[in-house]
Amino acid sequence: VTLPRIGVFDSGVGGLTVLKAMAEQVPAHYLYFGDTARLPYGTKSAETVARYSIAATHFLESQSIDLLVIACNSATALALPSVRQAAAVPVVGVVQPGATMAAEVSKTRAAIVVATEATVSSHAYRDALQQRGLEAYEKACPLFVPLVEEGWIDHPVTEQVARIYLGEAMAQASDKADVLVLACTHYPLIAPLLRRITPAHVQIVDSAESTARAVKERFRINGGAPARLFSTRGGDSPSASGNMEHRTFRFYVTDSVDKFKRLATRFLGRQVDHVEHVDLGG
Ligand code: DGL
Repeated sequence: VTLPRIGVFDSGVGGLTVLKAMAEQVPAHYLYFGDTARLPYGTKSAETVARYSIAATHFLESQSIDLLVIACNSATALALPSVRQAAAVPVVGVVQPGATMAAEVSKTRAAIVVATEATVSSHAYRDALQQRGLEAYEKACPLFVPLVEEGWIDHPVTEQVARIYLGEAMAQASDKADVLVLACTHYPLIAPLLRRITPAHVQIVDSAESTARAVKERFRINGGAPARLFSTRGGDSPSASGNMEHRTFRFYVTDSVDKFKRLATRFLGRQVDHVEHVDLGG
């Protein structure tokens, strides 16, 4: 069996939530590029994010890939058309899959979208949801990314911040929304906290799971239980690692390899090897 080579691109470590969800569903050789020297993307302009994203695309293509997944919501929201134009391989972003999943679960046809400032300003999710007949209430939550990177995933300060953001979003939506879309790579890590403070009738959808499903459908992979590649319990017991032999991982980062390894452990729940530094210049 020849496994596909899937390039995954993110501004840093956040895209590992998408990689994790995908790897559990799709056997492949994964090449992950984290632009850690230039993150965050979520505060930058569309022009800058497009320029960085195209450089990352060219790098991953030089490693010969069959498919490119833009795991970063901000990069997808701001630069998907530019990346598609620059890429020779098919490109999957995280926005359309997230919107599709929200449309599947919403009965009230209204969703709250929480994301970075850049993603919200682009209105990419609003447009994708409107195309599916849903009203969108977008809320920028710029403090979530640094809180998650600090490891404060179950912390009173994060909870307080989340209560303020979600309270404002709910008020804006005047209780019409029955879906909360986690439209940022970092937010799946605080999903349990968000679940606790979100009304029970509101379902939570995240772009990591929905993108994994879209990639799986693309390769028409069927049957077989999903592999638990990255056990959050730690360790690599044969039962916890599933079809480990049908996945390989290579990581490329533009800033410190050691810092990436440290943060990646938090995002994946296991240690990562095979991390290389690359210099894209600029
Ligand atoms: N990966 C980004 C996103 O999903 C969050 C981190 C950043 O701003 O670079 O929007």
